[in-house]
Amino acid sequence: MVNWRPDKASEAYLRAMQATYLLHGCPIFIEPLETTLPEWLQTRVYSNVLIIADEHTHQFCLPIINRLQLPVVPTLCVIPAGESFKDLDTCALIWRAMENAGLDRKALVINLGGGVIGDMGGFCAATWKRGIDFIQIPTTLLSMTDAAIGGKVGIDFHALKNVIGLIRQPAGVFIDPVFLHTLPQRELHSGMAEIVKHAAISHELDRPWVHQLPHTPDWFETLRASVGIKVRIVEEDPHESGLRMLLNFGHTIGHALESYYLHTPSPFTHGEAITIGMICEQYLQPAQNLHANLLKKQLMSIFKLDPIPLQAVSSLWMLMQQDKKNASGKVRIALPDALPFTMQVLEITQADLERSLLHFNK
Ligand code: GLY
Repeated sequence: MVNWRPDKASEAYLRAMQATYLLHGCPIFIEPLETTLPEWLQTRVYSNVLIIADEHTHQFCLPIINRLQLPVVPTLCVIPAGESFKDLDTCALIWRAMENAGLDRKALVINLGGGVIGDMGGFCAATWKRGIDFIQIPTTLLSMTDAAIGGKVGIDFHALKNVIGLIRQPAGVFIDPVFLHTLPQRELHSGMAEIVKHAAISHELDRPWVHQLPHTPDWFETLRASVGIKVRIVEEDPHESGLRMLLNFGHTIGHALESYYLHTPSPFTHGEAITIGMICEQYLQPAQNLHANLLKKQLMSIFKLDPIPLQAVSSLWMLMQQDKKNASGKVRIALPDALPFTMQVLEITQADLERSLLHFNK
């Protein structure tokens, strides 16, 4: 049999299947998995299927997938959980599993997990035999609203986060909040910071889907709204040559905080770190506006955070020298501007960082 897939026909089919969004050919379904995944798999011809999970998703999420009665019998690859395993050694384990399973160029990889699994499984699939199809089934709120969308795949190298990687759209993203019940509350709150970030970018901080957080009467509605904002930005700028940089709002300072506290007894979650990052970075905007107050109020209704000791400033500043947005040795931050979906890029100094942390600590 020749496994040839006419892309146009499959795109028409995906429209008929009513994907919630279609992003550069990648359907994004925000629906119960049982109504999307089995039917989508029926439409494709794959020679072989490999599921990549970590120890946690193997235990808590795979049983949900196994109940779906998929029209394929996948092989399983389970890797250790955690950001510290997002490296070349774990990629070697995955590639070995692909080799053992006999994955050819018509095979499919299913990434079942949070950002680490999605990024690393996507990277391994995108480089296997010069690229095979992969789908994302995000199981954390962070990955549902951010990491699984937009095709960024990659791994860390030494202390540098996501420095080896590429942009390649998955064959599909299947988002179902059913997995959120498997998460600890702190992890759930972490994802809410990215949802608030999307609302800040689109000037929708006063909409019910965001201002009710940390309570959410309808996760489907919240995720459709939040993911829609990311889709709109990636659609316009898939390779981050402009507007996509705005998705890094809060991350220049946030990533530095995350790295600095990583090896202390109380590391920040990603959401906690970018919450402080967003409050600090917004404060540095020359024309302060009401939007900043609303943002801080919304974030503080989710997170209770201690002040940052100012002795940390010089180390944080050194970490910020590594940020991918920097140009000609200058540290740059990307901020929402006066209109929805517009951006300001500012160069900042160590003194600005200190000033913004003082503001956060007030
Ligand atoms: N997480 C930011 C981006 O996908 O561009």
